[in-house]
Amino acid sequence: MSKLPIIEAVGRYVKENNSLFCTPGHKGGAGFLPSLSEAFAGGMLKYDITEVEGLDNLQDPEGVIRSSQELLSRLYGSEESLFLVNGSTSGNFTMIFSTFDEGDKILIERNCHKSIFNAVIMRKLEPLFIRNTCSGRYDAALGIDMQHFSETLNKNRDIKGVVITYPNYYGVCCDLERVIRECRAAGVKVLVDSAHGAHFGINGGLPESAVKLGADMVVMSAHKTLPSLTQTAYLHVGKAAEMDKVRFYYNSFMSTSPSYLFLCSLEYARFYLETKGEEDYGQLLETAAGYRDKINRLEHVHIIGREDIEFEIDATRYIINVEKGYSGHLLLDYLRRRGVQAEMSDGANVILILSPFNGKEDFERLLAALRECDFEELRAECHGAVSFGIPELKMLPHDALGAAKERIGFLEAEGKVCGGSIVPYPPGIPLLMPGEEISKKHVEIMKCFIDNGVKVIGINEKRQIEIIRDR
Ligand SMILES: Cc1ncc(COP(=O)(O)O)c(C=O)c1O
Repeated sequence: MSKLPIIEAVGRYVKENNSLFCTPGHKGGAGFLPSLSEAFAGGMLKYDITEVEGLDNLQDPEGVIRSSQELLSRLYGSEESLFLVNGSTSGNFTMIFSTFDEGDKILIERNCHKSIFNAVIMRKLEPLFIRNTCSGRYDAALGIDMQHFSETLNKNRDIKGVVITYPNYYGVCCDLERVIRECRAAGVKVLVDSAHGAHFGINGGLPESAVKLGADMVVMSAHKTLPSLTQTAYLHVGKAAEMDKVRFYYNSFMSTSPSYLFLCSLEYARFYLETKGEEDYGQLLETAAGYRDKINRLEHVHIIGREDIEFEIDATRYIINVEKGYSGHLLLDYLRRRGVQAEMSDGANVILILSPFNGKEDFERLLAALRECDFEELRAECHGAVSFGIPELKMLPHDALGAAKERIGFLEAEGKVCGGSIVPYPPGIPLLMPGEEISKKHVEIMKCFIDNGVKVIGINEKRQIEIIRDR
């Protein structure tokens, strides 16, 4: 066995020299334009220092970090903005812990990131879920069901806050302006997980930024779409937030030894957006639209656009939908063999994240790979994305976590309380969450997924699921 398994594996990957249509947004370093910050781009490892004399302290900034965060806040139009060095995950934790108290009822999107759900468990909150809509045509999870959102908000006057994902992993955006308007009227806070939307609003051809739309708090991954190092993110705070609490939880979820590499790259990404963002994203939108047209003239694939669905969509993201009867997962594997690294796939789609640092050669490589693809090799059984309702919560997720559990065959699970999460791909929306009651209908849906070979997280190879043990 190798003595350096990680270093060697990364080295082999780097040698492949793939076209990077995935995170991080700097695309293998191309985004660190030497003309903008030569010293940083050229001497990265020397910048890997932490809080030494003359620099500032992230946990209590009074100097350069404070100044840099003020510049960030000015660009996005927040009341205050903070650098996150532990990913958007740490921002989601900070938002949820500083806004809610134990036992609060909150409304969250069923298809939210696991960091949101983990924070709900740890803060001991009572979640109500907003249904997601599904496209049967594209076998994909789209935005939230707005009618279900409004009805649930109106019926539950004790909801303290709403957590929205804007955009989702596919770049699909819900009507956040309407969500915020209705929440304001109801006196309910709006927290936004905008991990995939740090570039929003910088050019008129992009969706508006969640901060500008008036959300109370917003988390953005700088590393997903901007030229910033992996793990880096921003937390934007609005006027209504209790800043002392935000600071306490922020400091609790953040490393006390942040690398200045992260801080420099967070600053650099803001500087890049401010000085070149509008122009570069305008150019990217044009290039993306041009190649989308070319790709959409090919057989078997279609990049989903604004005109195809009822939601706004980030045009710097390609959702390559494969014709029914072919597999998105197999297309992702094929593209990798052709030197094109996509971000992710589901049964029917491959997602590519584009940035201004994807050159024309990347788009040409993608186009050639799709044009020369032997789609017969990507044939697979096709399964429609089924949308399902929200089950009854029998036990708070936090209580379910601590309860005694056992595994039983899923066919025997009717009437039991689910102990884990059951998540079919596609569409990736949880069918059941910990603490929810398993109905006859759920058993039928699980059987249908398994009989059709759909990957279901939470059902093991013995066809068992985790349930709460009867007392
Ligand atoms: C919607 C969403 N929120 C939050 C996160 C967590 O971000 P990070 O990996 O920066 O912690 C992700 C990561 O994929 C995500 O997709």
